[in-house]
Amino acid sequence: MSPWWQDGVIYQIYPRSFADSNDDGVGDLAGILDRLDYLEWLGVDGLWLNPINPSPNKDWGYDVSDYCDVHPELGDMATLERLVTEAARRGIRILLDIVPNHSSDQHPWFQDSRSSRSAAHRDWYVWADGKDGGPPNNWQSVFGGPTWTLDETTGQWYLHNFLPEQSDLNWWTQDVWEAFDDILRFWFDRGIAGFRIDVAHGIVNDRELRDDPPDPDAAGRLKPVYSMNRPETHEIFRRWRKICEQYDPARLLVGETHVLDPVVMASYYGDGDELQLAFNFACVYAPFEAERLRRVIEQTEAAIPAGGWPVWTLSNHDVVRFPTRWCQGDEAKIRCALLVVLLLRGTPVLYYGDEIGLEQQAVPEEAVLDFAGNRDGARTPMRWSDEPGVGFTSEGVEPWLPFGSGPDVASQRDDPGSILTLCRDLLAVRRERDDLRAGAYASLPSPEGIWAWSRGAGHAIAVNLGESEATVDLTGTILVGTDRDRDGERVESGLRLGPAEGALLQT
Ligand code: NOJ
Ligand code: CA
Repeated sequence: MSPWWQDGVIYQIYPRSFADSNDDGVGDLAGILDRLDYLEWLGVDGLWLNPINPSPNKDWGYDVSDYCDVHPELGDMATLERLVTEAARRGIRILLDIVPNHSSDQHPWFQDSRSSRSAAHRDWYVWADGKDGGPPNNWQSVFGGPTWTLDETTGQWYLHNFLPEQSDLNWWTQDVWEAFDDILRFWFDRGIAGFRIDVAHGIVNDRELRDDPPDPDAAGRLKPVYSMNRPETHEIFRRWRKICEQYDPARLLVGETHVLDPVVMASYYGDGDELQLAFNFACVYAPFEAERLRRVIEQTEAAIPAGGWPVWTLSNHDVVRFPTRWCQGDEAKIRCALLVVLLLRGTPVLYYGDEIGLEQQAVPEEAVLDFAGNRDGARTPMRWSDEPGVGFTSEGVEPWLPFGSGPDVASQRDDPGSILTLCRDLLAVRRERDDLRAGAYASLPSPEGIWAWSRGAGHAIAVNLGESEATVDLTGTILVGTDRDRDGERVESGLRLGPAEGALLQT
């Protein structure tokens, strides 16, 4: 039997923006609890929650100040445990986000570490002497500027691959490894089904702190070969995987493997002994074009080791939402994108709002909260209805980020032609048909603009991402078309598709 995540679909929730249960304008765990019936109705199998730990929120939860507790604005341990139990009753598992690359500078570990050169936690973080009056090396922060900050107290520099308030943990210290073993077990013992691992490829830094070389593909940037992507990272994942396998069912590790080379991405699967899933950013950043996407998918399929399982995503909390980035708000294209991501071989991860085609939102300057990365427009409240408060919170409550505008769940839920219904029907058809969960992927010959592939022996999918109508050599019956009027149509002499049209066929 395949593991649950291989057959299933994961749904990413940005907890502050999903549902606000206590009218403080901030989404919370109790709000997610209230929406479990919806998620069951939609048909998802797992929820990945962005960080729920206590955090000063310099990077909205990705600066953790306590790895084993819940941020009071989001709820408490009892509510989380209730969420795990209630989700399980509906066949849904809960995944959390773990941030091992860095902690908050407010974490007691770092507070101790920075207090003196002989502090007990001194070597839990990366400290070094400066060079020629400047930082220890040339590494660049992902958020811009140097990765080093001079700490006056001890006269040394500390490393932060992201904000200065996100001090990098030193994975050359054995105690750090053990601390994270305990953190994994802490949550697994509470029924958490697995982790999405933040900056999975970047956890270990070069022990000798060698300079990064220039990036030949990005003028003015460095290639992070020493500040990230170190081979020792694999050792962490092998160790964590063993911990995962001690539980029943085995816990899941999904890596934020933010690398564009499919071969490097695939290396994080190890020999089936590291991550079960490694996010595919080459696909996220590819243009929405038949030829280019086909190539990324083929390269991914070729790179992933035998027995390995791909994972696909369209949007997340860091990138522009796909209906805007890929589809420029064109509903026909949005429908095609969902058809694609739900019918490739692999585990799809939907981002809240994907299922209604929610676009990137404009956030006025005075409402901006993500000073690090300007990502607020992908993190605004879920639009449940068009009532005041959009079903996210009560009328009159000021949400933490603006509601924005656009589609909502209530108006799509009972509409057979809606994006939401299409999405739900695609999830249902996946559940019903082995080919669509387990069947192999194979590209099929297709005219320019169309990308077609088979799944297993009995199903094929085609999308026309070109400008003009074209016909692909397929016969069969349309099970789900992006144009729902074509469901059930018998295709005898080639499948004709208009621009921005796609279909799933039983062949
Ligand atoms: C990746 C996370 O997805 C992003 O939101 C965060 O800013 C960085 N890692 C740093 O933790
Ligand atoms: Ca709240």
